[in-house]
Amino acid sequence: MSTLRTARAVAHSNIALCKYWGKRASDPPSLNLPATGSLSLTLDALWTETEVAPAAQDRFELDGAVHADDAARKVFAQLDRLWRAAGHGGARPAAAVRSVNHLPTAAGLASSASGFAALTLAGMAAMGGAMERGPLSALARQGSGSAARSLWGGFVRLDRGVRPDGEDCVARPLFPANHWDVRLLVVQTTSGKKAIGSTAGMERSRTTSPYYAAWVDGSDADLDRAQQALAARDLATLGAVVEHSCFKMHACMLASQPPFSYWNGTTLEVVRALWAAREAGLAGYATIDAGPHVKVLCEAATAPALAKRLGELPGVVAVQTCAPGPDASHEVLS
Ligand code: DP6
Repeated sequence: MSTLRTARAVAHSNIALCKYWGKRASDPPSLNLPATGSLSLTLDALWTETEVAPAAQDRFELDGAVHADDAARKVFAQLDRLWRAAGHGGARPAAAVRSVNHLPTAAGLASSASGFAALTLAGMAAMGGAMERGPLSALARQGSGSAARSLWGGFVRLDRGVRPDGEDCVARPLFPANHWDVRLLVVQTTSGKKAIGSTAGMERSRTTSPYYAAWVDGSDADLDRAQQALAARDLATLGAVVEHSCFKMHACMLASQPPFSYWNGTTLEVVRALWAAREAGLAGYATIDAGPHVKVLCEAATAPALAKRLGELPGVVAVQTCAPGPDASHEVLS
């Protein structure tokens, strides 16, 4: 088949409980191989829906607006990659990509994980290629590292792998969404302009932070401990690993030259309030990505009280409660 069909996919966003930060050397660099493995929770309330259809020329529409920028270039580079992976030769047919992010309005939450996962599924389905999730995860990773994890629901692990071709750097589901009734509170703080994109931030950490080697060295042990705690549904042990992974990553950024941080003042106030709540018997554990929002892992029963308490802090704009989300899905429309 050298033409495109029309296909649509839905992929849910994920938050890393053990973080990916830094890339290992790869040839070509577009393989996008992570220096650290990661372990994530897929979220029910945040997702991206993407349709890929034949068109007279390439066109990328995101949330109703046409883009011809860097984001569009990354989207079409991903379709080129999928075209070759589907076994087609020659030029890829032009495509219209329409994507809608179902994320809270102006939350400033990253959408690259759900976005590239949905694009990878919809694109491959439109090209008539193999829909096996493992190889698709390796392709999604080349769009954005965190996207490799969004093909599955529940709890997902992505090992960094050792092969230069990255074929062992593939995500796999550890436990389905119904394994454990946890919640992830997305505590949105007022956003400033992002200091530095995550890809550039990772590179600055790798090349200038004296903590980077320690960060990478400790990551496999964190993953194994987190997976064991997850299997045992042991929140205190899992939470300790989650915070350790998060704060080591942010310490690594602060120790870079020049230093950088994604936090604003409220980010730290939320963390301190969370720790105080924990002392008082309301157990939640913080993780923070390349942005100022705080994500809090807790049991379902604790979520309402914790969300209320954190939502009352000055500078907190909203608190959204997410449960474990489903697998990504796709359909071929015509
Ligand atoms: C802090 O997946 O956005 O969210 O591979 O360069 O696109 P690229 O990076 P990206 O980085 C995610 C970093 C993080 C941690 C995580 O999700 O594991």
